[in-house]
Amino acid sequence: MEIKENISLQSLHSFGCNEKANYFAKIDSIEAIEKCIQWAKEKDIPYFILGAGSNILFTKTFEGLVLKMEIMGIKKIKETASEVFLEVGAGENWHHFVSYCVQKGWGGLENLSLIPGTVGAAPIENIGAYGVEAKDSIASVTAYDTQIAQFIILQNSDCAFGYRTSLFKMDKTRYIISSVQFVLQKQPIFRTEYGAIKEVLHQKNNKQASLDAIANAVIQIRSEKYPHPQKLGNAGSFFKNPTVTKAIFETLIAAYPKIIAYPISDNAYKLAAGWLIEDCGWKGKQKGNVGCYEKQSLVIVHYNNGPGIEIFNFSEEIIQSVLSKFGILLEREVVIY
Ligand code: EPU
Repeated sequence: MEIKENISLQSLHSFGCNEKANYFAKIDSIEAIEKCIQWAKEKDIPYFILGAGSNILFTKTFEGLVLKMEIMGIKKIKETASEVFLEVGAGENWHHFVSYCVQKGWGGLENLSLIPGTVGAAPIENIGAYGVEAKDSIASVTAYDTQIAQFIILQNSDCAFGYRTSLFKMDKTRYIISSVQFVLQKQPIFRTEYGAIKEVLHQKNNKQASLDAIANAVIQIRSEKYPHPQKLGNAGSFFKNPTVTKAIFETLIAAYPKIIAYPISDNAYKLAAGWLIEDCGWKGKQKGNVGCYEKQSLVIVHYNNGPGIEIFNFSEEIIQSVLSKFGILLEREVVIY
């Protein structure tokens, strides 16, 4: 275990701000997790687990130990007539793993193609796109419980999965995910009801749905709509889509007939935050080093070499303007440190 001091986090997170960490180490085994946590506890400093750094904004120096998760491996652990169970190291690249499943003909994750990040981050955020969430294919999660200093296995139902949240997100420092066990379908059910997927499949000569066709459609949609982090600093959706009661939705739609919303239960609606932000005039707007992406207002982009706090302040301005126009308080989806 090699612990380095005073390391720049610039190349380690997708916003690319030049913030630093006092200490930094790579973790490529379960033993390394135990050793590093022990080291941080003895020194009495905080620690932070970094995957691909694609959903975090550092706004200051991290006065502790940043641990870069690099536990790798995709292993088949069980197979039945209809399902395949895989154990995947937390450090594996998410899209690489999704493509591997698509190639093998195992369904469940194809709609989540091209989401940046690592496998270990997928349960934390319960990443989701095009009608599918990671939790739909997660059987269990293996994690180091720092409170009891032991590895434990949490079944899907123990993980408190919700929209872009989980037990791991609620209690950020307690669990360190080392691997995730997935259950995939050998006779996949294709989920093509999401408008954009339907359209792309239709354009491609009414192409029949298949794992490959869906994955390619998602890759095409995402590449057209989201900026590539290596070309333009960003962390995907910066805000969550807010949920409101039916009564609030009815008041809003009366005042703003074009508002975009989806019913999610008898009394709740999810509002498209991208529409709210766009309607406040932010789409494509740039201030200093930061901007609201021209093709998707939920995405904040970092043009130059500004400090993380500038991005945070820009997001605060968006929050305030949506609040004063619609009375809706947007919540950040990106983790802020
Ligand atoms: N919209 C606008 N203006 C905008 C952006 C969106 O009017 O600037 C409208 C769209 O026209 C559409 C609706 O808002 O009618 C929803 O937009 P979209 O389908 O693009 O999805 P989203 O709600 O903006 C969510 C996820 C994305 C995920 C997509 C596709 C959240 C916070 N974001 O975005 O996830 O890829 O759906 O399923 O739930 C991420 O979490 O980082 C992420 C990219």
